[in-house]
Amino acid sequence: MILIGPPGSGKGTQAQRLEQKLGAVHLSTGELLRDEIAAESPLGKTAATYMNTGRLVPDQVAVKVVVDHMDRGDPDADYILDGFPRTRIQAEELDRILGERGLEVGKAVEIYIEDDVLKERLTGRFACVKCGEGYHKFFKRPEIEDVCDKCGSMEFDVRSDDMEETILTRLGIYHLETAPILPYYENRGLLVKVDGEKSVSDVTKEIELILADVG
Ligand code: AP5
Repeated sequence: MILIGPPGSGKGTQAQRLEQKLGAVHLSTGELLRDEIAAESPLGKTAATYMNTGRLVPDQVAVKVVVDHMDRGDPDADYILDGFPRTRIQAEELDRILGERGLEVGKAVEIYIEDDVLKERLTGRFACVKCGEGYHKFFKRPEIEDVCDKCGSMEFDVRSDDMEETILTRLGIYHLETAPILPYYENRGLLVKVDGEKSVSDVTKEIELILADVG
């Protein structure tokens, strides 16, 4: 399954929930790229120059992190792709990558949502430094103030691309480069749309229903 949606639409939140429920592998290109940046690898250094300003990394860089991750993983795994593909070239490359492994796209789920709601979500977001659990200053605070619900850590940080100006760039790029790939899946009968403004659990339920249909 592919999750397609603008920044802040809930792709990561839903992928994390569905990973546990479905036993599928959550593959987030944003997370993999941030790991490369943290490791100060050559790929990470290239990626940082794009990500810090909210631009997409070059297609070949995004494709490489996906292929490397799949090559290291279980060949029989089901995947939830979060944030890949984001361009027409990446969509075509994904078909090739999956085809080589005897796999195919089951569903492309578009999480749609108004830009104003997204800005509010992204400007309040923070995450646990230790385990990566995501929070929001209004919508999802830790149960005990300043303590991660999942691992007990007291260290949190804010993503470097969650600054207001960078958020606007990311939204603009979504509309310009990523939204145009939706017909690529719609024309093949693979696209389904989910209202991302519903509650987190209602969005999860909708996606689960869609996946039950795929079998
Ligand atoms: P990436 O990490 O993928 O970021 P993104 O697409 O901008 O998406 P986000 O992670 O910001 O949002 P999300 O949709 O996952 O929402 P979330 O669940 O966190 O990519 C970062 C960068 O990496 C890109 O800008 C690009 O530079 C590069 N990159 C990555 N992939 C690439 C590719 N394929 N090609 C080229 N470059 C690539 O939720 C947001 C907030 O809202 C959270 O606080 C959450 O708690 C809250 N929330 C979620 N759902 C709900 C709900 N239903 N109700 C209320 N609050 C909610």
